[in-house]
Amino acid sequence: PEILPIPQPPTHAYGFLGNLPDIDPSFHLKSLWHLSELYGPIYQLDFIRSRVIVISSYELAHEVFNDEHFEKFVSGPLKELRALSKDALFTAYNNEPNWHKAHRTLMPVFGPLGIRKMFPEQLDIASQLILKWDRLGPSHEIDTSDDFTILSHRLAFDTIGLCAFNYRFNDFYAENMHPFAHQMTEALTESMKRGNRAGIENSMRIWSAGKLHENVNAMHKLCDDIVAERKAHPQPDVNDLLNTMLNVADPVTKEKLDDENIRYQMVTFLAAGHETTSGTLSFLFYHLLKNPEKLQKAQQEVDQVLGDSPIEVRHISQLKYIDACIKETLRINPPVGAANRHARQDTTLGGKYEISKDFHIIVNLGGVQTDPSIWGNDSHTFRPERMLDFEKLPPDAWKPFGIGVRSCIGRGFAEQEIVLNVALILQRFQVEMADPTYDLAIKSTLTIKPRGFNIKVRRRPGKD
Ligand code: HEM
Repeated sequence: PEILPIPQPPTHAYGFLGNLPDIDPSFHLKSLWHLSELYGPIYQLDFIRSRVIVISSYELAHEVFNDEHFEKFVSGPLKELRALSKDALFTAYNNEPNWHKAHRTLMPVFGPLGIRKMFPEQLDIASQLILKWDRLGPSHEIDTSDDFTILSHRLAFDTIGLCAFNYRFNDFYAENMHPFAHQMTEALTESMKRGNRAGIENSMRIWSAGKLHENVNAMHKLCDDIVAERKAHPQPDVNDLLNTMLNVADPVTKEKLDDENIRYQMVTFLAAGHETTSGTLSFLFYHLLKNPEKLQKAQQEVDQVLGDSPIEVRHISQLKYIDACIKETLRINPPVGAANRHARQDTTLGGKYEISKDFHIIVNLGGVQTDPSIWGNDSHTFRPERMLDFEKLPPDAWKPFGIGVRSCIGRGFAEQEIVLNVALILQRFQVEMADPTYDLAIKSTLTIKPRGFNIKVRRRPGKD
């Protein structure tokens, strides 16, 4: 078969920078999306020390998603993030022993049974939102005042804090956000920028490097304090991730995770567990409000399944239309917008593109998940009905939770949390766009989420 050159945008006058000036470090995905429109389903970018291949079609992605020939690549922003979470699950290199140890120890807790046990804590935080809105106004319009993305951000942060180590950030209920939340957002944003800048520029940004260091240290300290406190005062009856990490040994090595690694896992759960979930919740409400007939269907389902009864864990699996809405949201707006991969051996992609194992392959998930060859000409339309036959989708067509062994450990946790929150809100409130002319704008920390999206709620008649 004929080998074809991979398209590449022209490199710049300062040749050694290669394509670096094509990338906006504060929102690299947006630059990649834009270049995909210009250069198509595969193109390459040259940076000072690396070559990046960007893929946006289902056909090529399907090959790259095969764990036998490709694997996760910890590079760019992910590598920068290791300052925060080192060899914990998300940022570990594939061969690091602590990844295998933590994966084996924690998988059961994130399985269906483990997740069900966390329902009461998730409900605890979700109910705070309902209560807060209830208190804001008696019968009609309630101005939720916050940007909905920030609101869901606080909600998700509190939920993961409570479930992971029985810690109440009270971010949601208090007026001001807990400093940890700011430190986390700043650290994620700065890691993303560092991962997309030239090394020399990073080394000149002394102030922001110092700030990152300061934030990371503060977060580590809080986690260390929580661990020390738990060790000094064990809480055997608490069902949280920290107890599992402190008390359960890995079935293979018979060893427990050490304290330093537990700290890295804790910040990982906080980072991975709140950004993505909150982004999904905001995108979901955006799509529902833009598509009133879908919103109505979702609300009807809540009325059928719950009526006026308090939600219980058994209801979650019955809310199938809401589940389809979540899946459809994650298809169009995957909050983790890219999968980072590399080939295990030098190979040929699509039978025609030569790929070295040193290349960093970025799969543009949003592109793959709206590829018209799979999703049709309405691939950008929010149509949850297409997710009702989820099992029949082509393999790898929908991958917002990542790939193979390195895919998301928190998927069940996130899905349960989102269904729960959507159901509680729709059961009690009528939701509207604060500004009916709002069109989706997106911002990026490390994950992506709506920007400037506000909602109004009003209590539904008879739902006091
Ligand atoms: C990994 C997405 C929620 C913890 C991943 C990956 C994706 C992802 C795409 C793979 C990243 C990669 O390939 O580099 C999402 C989405 C979520 C979500 C879309 C919500 C809608 C959560 C939650 C938690 C969590 C709630 C924790 C409670 C993790 C961890 C990993 C991971 C620890 C690393 C797994 C490993 O490599 O072993 N997630 N995630 N995620 N996620 Fe999530």
